[in-house]
Order: sequence, then structure tokens, then C-alpha cells
Amino acid sequence: MRAFDVAGYVVADAAERVDVAAVWQFLSTQAYWGRWRRREDLAAQVRSAWRVVGVYRCDSGALVGFARAVSDGVSLAYLADVFITPGHRGRGLGKLLVAVMIDRGAGAGFHWLLHTADAHSMCAGFGFAPANPTSMERPGDRRTTTPPGQPPPVGRARQSFRRVHRAFDTLGRGRFSAGAGRLAALGKAILLRNKVEP
Ligand SMILES: CC(C)(COP(=O)(O)OP(=O)(O)OC[C@H]1O[C@@H](n2cnc3c(N)ncnc32)[C@H](O)[C@@H]1OP(=O)(O)O)[C@@H](O)C(=O)NCCC(=O)NCCS
Repeated sequence: MRAFDVAGYVVADAAERVDVAAVWQFLSTQAYWGRWRRREDLAAQVRSAWRVVGVYRCDSGALVGFARAVSDGVSLAYLADVFITPGHRGRGLGKLLVAVMIDRGAGAGFHWLLHTADAHSMCAGFGFAPANPTSMERPGDRRTTTPPGQPPPVGRARQSFRRVHRAFDTLGRGRFSAGAGRLAALGKAILLRNKVEP
């Protein structure tokens, strides 16, 4: 177990100390990602995490920051659900939280991955950079990194649907125009009915 004290707060990686209710409170109401999760999903993610780090007030012990990591424990780790609650931001706690997770523990030499919609500069300070061309990923149906105010990304089933529509649309503009054009129009109608931009 590792703990770091800083100006009225303690940053600690003790799993048993994590207040899942407080983490749930932030992630289910204020996070711009992962809002599809049920409370039991989050509890399972916290339970199965390779490492969790919390930021706690020294006076009340309340959790005001959190991060969890998924890892093989050898060389690869994924950083997720990083937050500091609004009243405690701008004091260096976010950077300390990430530093404790990735630099001050067994993962210091790991290859780390993360997704973010807007914290690129903070993450860049820890050596994170956009993925290189050898990196690929398959989006899940429910994982989102949608910036605030934007619609969530389209799930895999809808993506396949959209690909089929585009193929027929392309054919429709070529020499098989009649039948393919009708199919493209039908596909477009179905996409719009499902609120997906063709
Ligand atoms: C991102 C977050 C954890 C930062 O916490 P914090 O305690 O305010 O951060 P710090 O005080 O340690 O400073 C963060 C630094 O990163 C910068 N930064 C970059 N992106 C940022 C962002 N999206 N939000 C806040 N700070 C950001 C800040 O300007 C600051 O830079 P500075 O040290 O040059 O002043 C916090 O704002 C938060 O919980 N945001 C909502 C959830 C979120 O976006 N999580 C990150 C998902 S990857």
C-alpha cells in the first residue's frame, strides 16, 4: 500500500478504502464517459481493477478523486475513470493522482493506454501521445469518450448498418443504379429512424 500526503489530502492506493458510492456519485452524474454503466458494473470494475488510487480529504476522509487501472500486471495497463470532484480541482491533485497511478508503483515501466476527450495536455505531461500507426482498436458498443454536449458514438451494430448503406449508395450512383438506389434510400430511412446520420 502506498500513500502520499499533500496539503490537506492523502493520495492512496488502498483498494479497501475506496468509497464506491462516492465514485458512483461522480461517474453517474458528472462524467462525460461511461454513463451507460449500472452501479453494479462500476462495483465490478473497481473489484477487478489491477490498481485503484483515491484522493481523500485529511479532515473528513471523504473521497474527492479517483482513478482505476486495468492491467496484465507485467507490461500493459489502461488508465480509466480519472476524476477530481469540482470543489477540489486546480490544486495539483489531478496530476498527483495520475503520477501516483502510473509513475509511483509497479506500473512505472508499463506501456500505458487511455482515452480522453479533453485532458490531452495533462496526459501529455506524463508522456502520453496520440497512438502511432501500428496501433489499432475495436470500439465496443457501449464505451464512450464523448465530449460534453455531443451525442455518443454509434455502436457496432449501427456502424455495420451504416457501412451497408454506404456500399449500396455507392453502387446506386454507378451502373446498377435502379435497384441499389432504392436499397440505399431504404437504408437511409432506417438509419434516420434510428437517429444515425447516414
Ligand atoms: C482532469 C482533472 C482530473 C484535473 O484535475 P485537477 O486537480 O484540476 O488538475 P491539476 O490541478 O493537477 O492540474 C491539471 C493540469 O492539467 C491541465 N488540464 C488539461 N486538461 C485538463 C482538463 N480537461 N481539466 C482540467 N485540467 C486540465 C490544467 O490546466 C493543469 O495544468 P497546469 O498544471 O499547467 O496548470 C479534473 O479537472 C477532472 O476531474 N475533470 C473531469 C473529469 C475528466 O475530465 N477526467 C479526465 C479524463 S482523462
